[in-house]
Amino acid sequence: MLHGTITYGTMYAMDTYFWYAVTPAVNLTMVAGAITQAFVSLDRILDVMRNVPEVVEQPGAADLPDDVRGDLRLESVHFAYGPDKPLFDGLDLHLPAGKMTALVGHTGCGKTTVTSLLLRLWDVQDGRVTLDGHDVRDLTLRSLRRHTGVVPQEPVVFEGTVFENIAYADPDATLEQAEEAARAAQIHDFILTLPDGYQTWLGKEGSKLSVGQKQRIAIARAILRKPAVLILDEATSSLDSESEAALQAAMRTVLRDRTSVVVAHRLSTIVEADQIVAMDAGRVIEIGTHDELMEIEGGFYRHLYEELKGKQHAGEVEA
Ligand SMILES: Nc1ncnc2c1ncn2[C@@H]1O[C@H](COP(=O)(O)OP(=O)(O)O)[C@@H](O)[C@H]1O
Ligand SMILES: [Mg+2]
Repeated sequence: MLHGTITYGTMYAMDTYFWYAVTPAVNLTMVAGAITQAFVSLDRILDVMRNVPEVVEQPGAADLPDDVRGDLRLESVHFAYGPDKPLFDGLDLHLPAGKMTALVGHTGCGKTTVTSLLLRLWDVQDGRVTLDGHDVRDLTLRSLRRHTGVVPQEPVVFEGTVFENIAYADPDATLEQAEEAARAAQIHDFILTLPDGYQTWLGKEGSKLSVGQKQRIAIARAILRKPAVLILDEATSSLDSESEAALQAAMRTVLRDRTSVVVAHRLSTIVEADQIVAMDAGRVIEIGTHDELMEIEGGFYRHLYEELKGKQHAGEVEA
């Protein structure tokens, strides 16, 4: 291991941990900031891993069968981060297989925590979280990670080539497969404009990619892995309208035919969801399609939507 760099093989070996490393649940803002500077060192990643909450695999844990449908449920979930008042106090939520669910609500209402529980980054204190009817605590962590993918809000770009950045989770991936994924993620044309195309080294350059470009690289990564469940934390930073359109198209591709959970900040994403879950202070206030929820006179979602629309109109995408 060369000081300050990380090899392709090591990155693959750490795949299991990568999903921890990219989740906001472990309050990674600072570390992720350092990582996106592209000076990824193993020490740094290990630091990240040491901060990871202990989720223990049970003896006798089983792998998921290969034909994962991706049906997710939170059943009477009680969850607190600390000794304070619990965030979730009997939360029930069904995320149907093959459908796209958008989680919406003000900052701090619990959207990211829902996704962290689905990925079993934390264990619930009461109730259960199930994937295809299996309590996630009865599954091997490896199997759970294998069938779930995450596109984080501020995706991490590693020091390495563009190809490695897309394909690192699958050492057998060919350049063709990476290109196909990149096309679907609407980032292929951009990659071709880089000095060495797919072989362009993303070192310090990595940090020069825009958030939208990093998200599309992360989407390409996710497409290549073909997880049954995909969790996408939408970027809140404003994108130019071209990146916005490209990202939208990329998301449409990646969300098709799989269970997806989007922490949604953009109206265009929210409106397309099969199911919108409007949350406030750890509770589900309303659930339904955009049209259904807009019909509720004085409804919570309707209010949220108008608020967001006002902001986007004013040019602030942040929710
Ligand atoms: N790792 C953590 N440790 C302690 N409290 C946390 C942690 N992550 C989130 N919280 C708290 O839990 C609540 C819900 O947070 P979160 O799920 O991130 O909301 P959202 O994604 O909707 O903004 C907030 O009050 C937040 O401060
Ligand atoms: Mg969040």
